[in-house]
Amino acid sequence: MVIVNNKKTKKSEIYEDKIRNIIKEYQMYKRSKIDFLSIADAMSDGIYVVDYNGIIVDVNKIFEDIVGLEKCNLIGKPMEAIWNGKIYSEEESFVVLEHKSSMPSMAMISGIEGKRLKEKKPKSVGLMALEEKKEISVVTRIERMNKTVIMTGIPFFNEQNKVECVVTVIRDITEFIQLKEKLEDLENDKRKYIDEIKYLRKNQMQTDFVGKTTGAEKIRHLIEQASKTDVTVLITGETGVGKEVIAREIYKNSLRKNGPYIKVNCAAIPENLLESELFGYEKGAFTGAQYKDKLGLFQVANHGTILLDEIGEMPLKLQSKLLRVLQEREITRIGGATAEKVDVRIIAATNQNLQDQINKGIFRDDLYYRLNVFPIRVLPLRERREDILVLANNFIESFNKKYNKHKRFEKSAIEALEFYNWPGNVRELENIIERLVVIDDELLIKRKDIVNTLGKDDFPSEVNNENITLKEAVNLLEKNIIGRALKKYGSTYKAADALGIKQSTVVKKAKALGITKW
Ligand SMILES: Nc1ncnc2c1ncn2[C@@H]1O[C@H](COP(=O)(O)OP(=O)(O)OP(=O)(O)O)[C@@H](O)[C@H]1O
Ligand SMILES: [Mg+2]
Repeated sequence: MVIVNNKKTKKSEIYEDKIRNIIKEYQMYKRSKIDFLSIADAMSDGIYVVDYNGIIVDVNKIFEDIVGLEKCNLIGKPMEAIWNGKIYSEEESFVVLEHKSSMPSMAMISGIEGKRLKEKKPKSVGLMALEEKKEISVVTRIERMNKTVIMTGIPFFNEQNKVECVVTVIRDITEFIQLKEKLEDLENDKRKYIDEIKYLRKNQMQTDFVGKTTGAEKIRHLIEQASKTDVTVLITGETGVGKEVIAREIYKNSLRKNGPYIKVNCAAIPENLLESELFGYEKGAFTGAQYKDKLGLFQVANHGTILLDEIGEMPLKLQSKLLRVLQEREITRIGGATAEKVDVRIIAATNQNLQDQINKGIFRDDLYYRLNVFPIRVLPLRERREDILVLANNFIESFNKKYNKHKRFEKSAIEALEFYNWPGNVRELENIIERLVVIDDELLIKRKDIVNTLGKDDFPSEVNNENITLKEAVNLLEKNIIGRALKKYGSTYKAADALGIKQSTVVKKAKALGITKW
């Protein structure tokens, strides 16, 4: 500062102002530089700057960490030497991403649509952007640091449109790539499971409903009607009559055929587990449920069909919960505070007499009415004997195929099958035929094979005698059947009930046929 006689001259004032401005500018510059460096260091991306000669002029902290080199060994050095000598090795993959925005999106990185640079020796992105005078991004591995990074070089131009420097931003995407790979693995697993479920479902759905009697035709018609809507169906009938086959036919022909099909056997799951199986639970609902939520089968079956098999065995407490599902179409998980909507078609099946269960107080009548909207009652096989031959032929064909055999029934064998009472219904018939197919290599299945396989001779052998009259054959059969019923039930009333005839007829016939003891 120039001072003359304690008075400032005009010139010196101007000079002082200039100096003050320079100091101010310098301080601002210093502050902005400090701010730039501290911001750059605080960033989670690495940054390096090269000048127009490709010399490194600055790097931030993260860049040092990513490449594993210290700032003091980088500044003032040509980037080319550092890149090829210290950071990058030639075997590493190098992908250039074509993009328009300033940083490629993660979606773009995960697609890695760019082309691999095989012919060119990979350069640092800063140098590539410097050479090509445009923004460039690459994804590459820095094997030495076990890192995958995406780098974007952004050139800055001066007034003469010459590149003054290139700022390169480097983002460590190692974790992102690992997550992407994990996700791809999970996607693959998911695809595998879906294929497996499809395969299992197809296998499970293979049996078609077979039968030609009017009873079978009636069931076919009911299946067709039930398939057209989401109506709740109740299928009843003795064990082995084909209730499950019918439920599957309804599902296969319904609009929900591409949705899930879940079968729950209410009798096979212990009472205390059935609730959590059906409705699921929330984390912490009870001991053992601390760690995770569990989906209930109603939720698994969402948009599909659920078969509640052996519904007669469902505990009363769960019956009221099921009623709620049927009425409100919503479920509440164990320990859950809110109800969740479910869209499930319900088919129930049982071999119990639900009316009896209601009378005994072990089945809710309101639930029965809700389930019995569309009842299907399946007759036992002995009440539709003409189906025996069709079913037997169907089973022998499929087991011949399965076991690579060519077995056939002899006529007398078919008669034996038709005479038998089949307490286990179609399941028993199916099992017997499988056994007959595998038991030996004889081509013909004879009557004696059937008798041996069934383990008892229900049919007086004289019936097969060609010289016997019809009346004699009928008498023999009647004697056999009535005698067996009397032995089983111990009273003419009960035997009459079981055989569907009057007690007086049993008494009369027993006397006429010479059945004196039972
Ligand atoms: N009409 C049919 N056509 C073809 N196969 C049948 C038919 N009915 C039953 N079956 C076969 O008989 C076996 C028993 O059938 P299913 O399991 O459907 O009986 P169910 O009535 O559900 O018996 P349960 O009450 O014991 O559960 C199955 O292997 C099934 O394939
Ligand atoms: Mg069943």
